Amino acid sequence: MKIILLSGGSGKRLWPLSNEIRSKTFLKLLPAPDGGRESMLQRVCRQLDAAGLLSSTSIVTHFSQFEIVRSQVGEKIPVLAEPHKRGTFTAIGLASRYLHTQGISPDEIVCFMPADPFVDAAFFEKVASLPSVLAQSGARMALIGTKPSFPSTQYGYIVPASAQDREAAPYLSVAEFAEKPDEQGASALLSRGALWNSGVFAFANSFMLEVLASRGLPDDYGQLLGLYDKLPELSFDEEVVEKTKPIVVLPYDGRWDDLGNWQALAPHLEGRAVGPGEVSDDSADTHIVNELSSPVHVIGVSGIIVAASPDGILVASKAGSSRIKQINPGKRRAP
Ligand code: GDD
Ligand code: MG
Repeated sequence: MKIILLSGGSGKRLWPLSNEIRSKTFLKLLPAPDGGRESMLQRVCRQLDAAGLLSSTSIVTHFSQFEIVRSQVGEKIPVLAEPHKRGTFTAIGLASRYLHTQGISPDEIVCFMPADPFVDAAFFEKVASLPSVLAQSGARMALIGTKPSFPSTQYGYIVPASAQDREAAPYLSVAEFAEKPDEQGASALLSRGALWNSGVFAFANSFMLEVLASRGLPDDYGQLLGLYDKLPELSFDEEVVEKTKPIVVLPYDGRWDDLGNWQALAPHLEGRAVGPGEVSDDSADTHIVNELSSPVHVIGVSGIIVAASPDGILVASKAGSSRIKQINPGKRRAP
């Protein structure tokens, strides 16, 4: 199996630490085993290594993020650079075509996954089992589904076919996949026992090569790269997963988190201040993340995040901090 990490996000909700180039994936905020701090990308690579999967791993990223990826993962992992951001469908297509060019057999199982899920080692055991699940089930695609906790509109929903022993089966056949429904749709899907899509997609490489051919996209990797800026931005979930059958899903009920905003990230920081500064003892559930050299002090205020970098300073309630995405200060600044 070949694993390809998709790393193409631009962080808007973790401003001012994240920006167009430095997305959340690259922020070195998580406590690392050596006592220092590591990024989400570095954590995933460390976990892939522990699961014996790192030597089969490559990364696809936008060329503006190539250097930061290299500096974080070192020279051993192949990094493929896209000339433009064209979404997960196009990134997966490019990587699939690239692997083919490198002599990887069309029968080889390829597993695409986000570069930044916050998961435990058990998640990578599921990833490692994907080829045998595909072989046993005869499905065209295998996914990993996580336990949903509320009708989120930010995830894909995987509905297992009814009349399956959900506890006993190592994988379930999928009746339907729905990408980012509205809240009402999400509630309806949950009542049908849907799981959240973790963003892991495994299939034989021939599957994606056929999808590309069916759309008249060139067989030649260089030609595909040359055409890239003319391609539309497309999501793999909408373009492919929603339309594919048969699909199977491996349920995973361990830790899985997106850590895409300050409220989700703060509990994982260990300690109340990252960088110079202090939170007073009478401030509950308050965190500082400070990249500046001047200290930040928070006294007697609860439930807030103070984040500071050369790009700006955010002072927000944890619950309201995602609203920074609407303000979009990164866009307001001159580049
Ligand atoms: N290389 C590359 N190029 N990577 C990309 C691109 C691109 O153009 N666009 C997105 N990615 C990467 C992101 O960095 C992330 O690691 C992964 O692909 C998924 O993209 P997101 O933009 O984070 O997607 P999402 O969160 O809205 O939805 C997806 O993930 C959810 C789980 O977190 C979908 O797969 C949902 O169904 C799923 O529930
Ligand atoms: Mg995401």
